[in-house]
Amino acid sequence: MPFYSYHIFCCTNRREPGHTRGCCTEKDAEALRDYMKRQVKTLGIEKTRVNNAGCLDRCELGPCMVIYPEGVWYSCKTKEDIDEVIREHLQGGNIVERLKI
Ligand code: FES
Repeated sequence: MPFYSYHIFCCTNRREPGHTRGCCTEKDAEALRDYMKRQVKTLGIEKTRVNNAGCLDRCELGPCMVIYPEGVWYSCKTKEDIDEVIREHLQGGNIVERLKI
């Protein structure tokens, strides 16, 4: 039995401005990670952990996150995207195809 039901890794890697690959942090990844952590706690979603990650190497598609145990990757660009992942994936058990990368 895994310790967490869901373990979410959010890239918060930062690169210098103008880097050819860009980075998730310049696309608001830290604020979106904070929002997700807050919402998971506020909604009382148990056995779910939201962690920072370094570069996940899909920078151009960011902000990137990956959710285990499924190993599903998402690019969430807004709080509404995060809300949808929480509602559909974490609470509903459904993959959000439109945000999947
Ligand atoms: S900077 Fe986020 S995936 Fe590389």
